[in-house]
Amino acid sequence: MGTIAVIGSANADLVVQVDRRPAGGETILGSDLVITPGGKGANQAVAAGLLGGDVRFVGAVGADANGDLLRGSLADAGVDVSRLGTADAATGVALIFVTPDGENSIVVAPGANSAVTPAHVAACEPGWATADLVVMQLEVPMATVECVAATCARAGTRFLLNAAPAAVPPSAVLGACDPLVVNRSEALLLLGDDPGSTADPEQLARRLALLGPRSVVLTLGADGALALEADGSVHHQAARRVTAVDTTGAGDAFVGALAVELAAGGTLAAGLARATDVAAVSVQRPGAQSSYPRASEVGRA
Ligand code: RIB
Repeated sequence: MGTIAVIGSANADLVVQVDRRPAGGETILGSDLVITPGGKGANQAVAAGLLGGDVRFVGAVGADANGDLLRGSLADAGVDVSRLGTADAATGVALIFVTPDGENSIVVAPGANSAVTPAHVAACEPGWATADLVVMQLEVPMATVECVAATCARAGTRFLLNAAPAAVPPSAVLGACDPLVVNRSEALLLLGDDPGSTADPEQLARRLALLGPRSVVLTLGADGALALEADGSVHHQAARRVTAVDTTGAGDAFVGALAVELAAGGTLAAGLARATDVAAVSVQRPGAQSSYPRASEVGRA
C-alpha cells in the first residue's frame, strides 16, 4: 500500500433539507439543522482512510467545536492528523441545502482554510512531498496549490488535482497533474466553453489534456467516469444504477477511492472501477463523510 498526502480544506457542513431552493429575496422553511464533518480535502482523506489507505492530512481548523468534529472524524477514519493545524480563525463552514432529488447547493465560508498557506504546508514537511501520491482540491488558497504542485514536480511525486470548486489554476499547476480530476461543469470552465455545452466526454478529456496534465479523469455522475491515459488510451466506466438521496461529497468519495488505487500502483482503469462503486454507495446515504463506506462494504476488506 502506498502513502497518500491530502492537502486541503476541512469544513463543518451545516445541512438543511429543503423542498426546493429559495429564490432571491425569499424565505422558506426547511428541516432541522444537521452538522456533519465535510470539506473537500477532509472528505477525500476520510474516504481514502476508510478504504484502508495510509493517509496523512495537511490542513487547518479553528479552536472550536467544529474543529474538534473534523479532527475526530479524520482520526476515526485512521487518517494521520499530526499536520492538521489550529488557526486563529473559525473552522470553515459549508452551508448546504439538499433537495428531495438528492441534489445540493453549497456556499463555503473558508475560515481556517485560508490559513493553509504556502508557509503552512512548508512547515508541515517532512511528510507530504515524499508520499506516493499528493492530492489537492481548490478550497485552499491558489498560491498553496501552486507551491505544492511545484514541489511535487521537483520531487517527482505524483500529484492529483481535483479542480473543485470550479476555478482555472495556472498552467504550471495543470501541467503537474497526473491525473487532473474534474466533473463536466469544471471541465467546461477550464476549457472556456459554454456551461450548457453537451460536448462529448472523450472530446472534453482530450481537450483538457492539451492544457498540460499527464492524464485526465472526467466524472460523469450517473453516467460513470472516463479516464484519458498519458498514452492517449481511454477507459469508460459505467456507474451502478442507484437511487440517490444525497450527492453531497460523492465526488470526494470518488477521489479518495481513486487515490487509494493509484497510491498502491494501480491503473487509472482499476481506480475508476473502484471509485465509481464507492461514489454509488455514498449517494445512497445522507451527508459527506458520514456516507462513506469501509473497504469491507465495497468488496475488499
Ligand atoms: O464536496 C462536498 C463538500 O464541499 C462539502 O462537504 C462541503 O464542505 C464543501 O467543501
